[in-house]
Amino acid sequence: MREIQKIFRGRETIDGGGVKLRRLLTPQAYREADPFLLVDEFHNDDPSTYIAGFPPHPHRGFETITYLLAGRIHHRDSRGHEGHLGPLSLQWMTAGSGIVHSEMPEQEDGLLWGYQIWLNLSTAQKMTKPRYQDIPAEDIPEVEEGPLRIRVLAGEYKEKKSPVMTFFPVLYLDLSFSEESFFYLSLPVGDTVLVICIEGNVEIGERRQQLVMGELALLGEGEGIGLYSKKGRLLLLSAPPLREPMVAHGPFVMNSREEIEQAYRDYAAGLFEV
Ligand code: FE2
Repeated sequence: MREIQKIFRGRETIDGGGVKLRRLLTPQAYREADPFLLVDEFHNDDPSTYIAGFPPHPHRGFETITYLLAGRIHHRDSRGHEGHLGPLSLQWMTAGSGIVHSEMPEQEDGLLWGYQIWLNLSTAQKMTKPRYQDIPAEDIPEVEEGPLRIRVLAGEYKEKKSPVMTFFPVLYLDLSFSEESFFYLSLPVGDTVLVICIEGNVEIGERRQQLVMGELALLGEGEGIGLYSKKGRLLLLSAPPLREPMVAHGPFVMNSREEIEQAYRDYAAGLFEV
């Protein structure tokens, strides 16, 4: 069974137009977290901490995955896509060769709670055509197993398959424990596995090391994952590492410095707008 290799507690950050968030994972950890680049948590009920949103900004070379638990976000991009995210909906955006987008709260008060994950693309896919998958809450498959509720955001669990298309196998589950229960899942050996505790707490592996709300665990090598909780909710991510050179700078993630400089030139030349 996999055990916790490292716990990330994150850091409060201000990003976008002035949004308060907790950055649980940064590209600095990429050597261990490959292909996951970044994990941001926003969980605010004071509108002054989120109302400014994320005005137009570019991305190239990876995907952003936004899962909203509470609140509403209006998304727009330079390719003419537009979408509304509501509670329990998912947006899987492939920035690929480049987009400019805005992500703005569609509420003036109340709780805004969600997670944005940056997933790297392989060298062969970095310049792929931008793609935008907007999955409403009702299209995300759910499995009930006694006190456990499992929402399949990406990949497949017990023959329930997420409609999300990915470039390599990615499993992304939202797991809720409503009372004392144990969950075991076999995962591909060699995959990078992250667990984010978003409510309550959870114990992981044979050592039953505890992860509490607001913490992210990178799991060590092994096959299966064993989770035990009395009351808790977590996000589980599993994907194979790309093992390619990675250079991240601001909103661009490429394989080399030259490609990052090219991204800045292309953006300045307006090539992301068409
Ligand atoms: Fe963005």
